[in-house]
Amino acid sequence: MARIAVIPGDGIGPEVVAEGLKVLQAAAEVEDLAFDTVTFDYGAERYLKDGTTLPDAGLAELRDEFDAILLGALGDPRIPDMRHGREILLRLRFDLDLFINLRPVRLLDAALCPLKGKGPKEVDMVVFRENTEGIYVGAGGNFKKDTPDEVAIQEDVNTRKGVERIIRAAFEYAKAHGRGSVCMSDKSNAMRFAGDLWQRTFKAVAADYPKIEAFHLFVDVLTMELVRAPERFEVIVTNNLFGDIVTDLGAQIAGGIGLAASGNIHPGGSALFEPVHGSAPDIAGQGVANPLATILSIQMLLEHLGHPGAAARVDAAVRRALDEKVLTRELGGDRSTKEVGDFVAAAVRAPT
Ligand code: NAD
Ligand code: IPM
Ligand code: MN
Repeated sequence: MARIAVIPGDGIGPEVVAEGLKVLQAAAEVEDLAFDTVTFDYGAERYLKDGTTLPDAGLAELRDEFDAILLGALGDPRIPDMRHGREILLRLRFDLDLFINLRPVRLLDAALCPLKGKGPKEVDMVVFRENTEGIYVGAGGNFKKDTPDEVAIQEDVNTRKGVERIIRAAFEYAKAHGRGSVCMSDKSNAMRFAGDLWQRTFKAVAADYPKIEAFHLFVDVLTMELVRAPERFEVIVTNNLFGDIVTDLGAQIAGGIGLAASGNIHPGGSALFEPVHGSAPDIAGQGVANPLATILSIQMLLEHLGHPGAAARVDAAVRRALDEKVLTRELGGDRSTKEVGDFVAAAVRAPT
């Protein structure tokens, strides 16, 4: 039986995770699968209570005892520096070496696209965000802090191994899924050293995939093109920071942050699935958060664990919720988090 660790986290995290688990349960029932879920209380409350973020033993347990991790979101206004978030989420990404942050940008319903004349055919791509290095590694420091001469240094770490494996993963995905192109995006015109490594590595890896078109865009141009002509993109590969920014933009062109799902994956190793959005303290506790991003993350989890039938059922059920306008407030509906979750779970059980 597959074992799934669940970290509901902060803010709307527990609200959306509860609906995700309902849908997982429904998919398991109809597909005759069994999942053993174990919940962990890592998050703001625990940190404020006893200082725990993610202990070493907890990390080892998540690594050794589980087939996948489901995370809601982290972030709490009482912890403005997000220390617990970095020590839990970023530590999981780094220490479990989840180097692929797979973020589909897939418009499910033309009505949800803010771009004029663009529909599901035009907005259908996958972003491969490097997830273990870059400017996120926390290398740097302060000098003369709290004086007028203060210096803050934040270093951007790029390794040949790290750059190569994420670029190769993007090409492998394109090959396996019949995608015709891979776009690498960086800022090599301004950030020379890292950019040079990305450029050379991209060319070298692309040479191994002659049937896949390989092209490059500077990241500023990429943001422009994603809005102007999203149909240009099938697979995008970029670094950690640019991937973070580009996927929030991607979320908006595909219906909003309430629908954006992601997987943090080490092929053959650990994997963590989570909505792209954060803990949304502005709407937490109101029962209005959209659970579909988490439910679509469950879909990715099911696919990852080798259950394409169950994943397809979840996909169809989400599409039905969109078709029948069973929507939360930010998408113009009036349904609660729970109502949307119940609807999707019922649609998984009784597909039309
Ligand atoms: P956010 O994604 O939490 O919220 C941005 C906006 O989107 C808000 O207006 C919010 O109400 C809305 N929103 C987000 N998810 C929604 C949903 N499911 N349904 C409807 N509306 C939704 O980003 P933020 O406000 O910048 O961050 C809040 C906290 O979350 C911060 O502490 C941040 O660091 C953290 N954060 C965590 C993660 C994560 O855990 N993976 C991701 C992003 C941000
Ligand atoms: C995300 C989030 C995180 C990130 C934050 C919370 C550290 O924005 O998962 O997109 O920047 O990776
Ligand atoms: Mn983000």
